[in-house]
Amino acid sequence: MPRHSHAHSNGHAYSPSQNTFSISPHRFQPRTRPALRWRRQLIVKIAAIAFFAGVVLLLIFPSFRDLLLPTLGLGFILTDDPTLSTVRHYDLNNYLGTARGWERGERILFCVPLRDAEAHLPMFFAHMRNFTYPHHLIDLAFLVSDSKDQTLPKLKEYLTDLQNDPDDRMPFGDISLIEKDFGQKVKQDVENRHGFAAQAPRRKTMAQARNWLLSASLRPHHSWVYWRDADVETAPPTILEDLMRHNKDVIVPNVWRPLPDWLGGEQPYDLNSWQESETALALADTLDEDAVIVEGYAEYATWRPHLAYLRDPYGDPDVEMEIDGVGGVSILAKARVFRSGVHFPAFSFEKHAETEGFGKMAKRMHFSVVGLPHYTIWHLYEPSADDLKHMERMEEERKMKEAAEKAEKEKAAKLANNFENQNEQWQKDKEAVAAAAKEQETKKDKILVGGEAGPHAHAGEGEAAGAKKSHENGIVDTAGNEVKKE
Ligand SMILES: *[C@@H]1O[C@H](CO)[C@@H](O)[C@H](O)[C@H]1NC(C)=O
Repeated sequence: MPRHSHAHSNGHAYSPSQNTFSISPHRFQPRTRPALRWRRQLIVKIAAIAFFAGVVLLLIFPSFRDLLLPTLGLGFILTDDPTLSTVRHYDLNNYLGTARGWERGERILFCVPLRDAEAHLPMFFAHMRNFTYPHHLIDLAFLVSDSKDQTLPKLKEYLTDLQNDPDDRMPFGDISLIEKDFGQKVKQDVENRHGFAAQAPRRKTMAQARNWLLSASLRPHHSWVYWRDADVETAPPTILEDLMRHNKDVIVPNVWRPLPDWLGGEQPYDLNSWQESETALALADTLDEDAVIVEGYAEYATWRPHLAYLRDPYGDPDVEMEIDGVGGVSILAKARVFRSGVHFPAFSFEKHAETEGFGKMAKRMHFSVVGLPHYTIWHLYEPSADDLKHMERMEEERKMKEAAEKAEKEKAAKLANNFENQNEQWQKDKEAVAAAAKEQETKKDKILVGGEAGPHAHAGEGEAAGAKKSHENGIVDTAGNEVKKE
């Protein structure tokens, strides 16, 4: 074997066992077959070592992959590898969204705008745990803005619990917590939030919040975007699949809210999902360029068909209705709608802003926008100041009634007590009378008490006297009231 290596290094055969000066008989011979085979083997070995080294390099230095593979025309390998650190390849045609996304591993970006929402978080996370759409396919994005309470720290606590849940179906995908204040001047309480004057500025700020949240968290691998408010009280855990099955670009359920019984039990809540009307279009034409029409206020009578009012509790939940404006409580949209540039206008777009403007803009770009009138979710009931006053009055009335009932009871008890006393009194009287009668009997011959004439004889003497008579007949109920014999 050493002969071979020497042969390779100096170009001629050399054998240490032979005389250095002798002429090798092989010298001018053509190369032997073993030599050729050996050379081929060497090339194969070098290639194998190079390949092995290459693989090791690829494994150790991911950036090397990004450099090497495309230059070798192997770039297609990269598209399936999500762990690359610097270069990522996406074919957005794979993320358009289909009717049965959960079977195809389609990812949903779940967006939740939050503001002073600490109180709603326990309920919200109870919903999160119940979602039937595979949790690992859902990425969460929270925007916490202008909050004075403990929304952010509490949110982190709940998320930590959720992601560390021992049940491996619980944890969600990526989570983004985004903080951004917009300096909202409108206070968050119900009265301020729902007042007419506050609507346009409030909606414009909300629109900005949604756009910030979405643009910061939407990734190319998201096929869907779901917007959900934290204060939804009741919703089917299958809502994502239920909405997705319709395979629409933008789809919303009907949103109602439960009411206390004294207010009628239930009420439409979200009036922002509607169909455009001629009246509203005519109204829009008369308005200033920057005006924003808001629904549900007497100031703008639009006579639009609202999704909320078309609800039939027994209707088919799959019935669809084309709409133009959408409410923001629960929107499922294909990510491509946003990728196409549709957003939540923070200005007057066709005289609308935020989610209603979003619906209009999506329509304008020929996306399908649909509402489900008979598929209902329930928003939390938050009493208004008027409701609170009313409830306070009701509470007072209740207390007064209770107090009155208590007084009544006490009075009755006292009466019964008095009656007992009177009975005792009567017993004494009777004995006294009997004694007197005996005395008289002994004196003379008349019987004073008794006989059928008793009641008449004692008329006007009161109940105790009546009871006395019955007593004599042996018929008195447990309360001491007289029971008529005949
Ligand atoms: C979650 O599911 C459980 C069990 O079905 C149910 O009792 C609970 O009310 C649900 N929670 C919410 C917030 O819907």
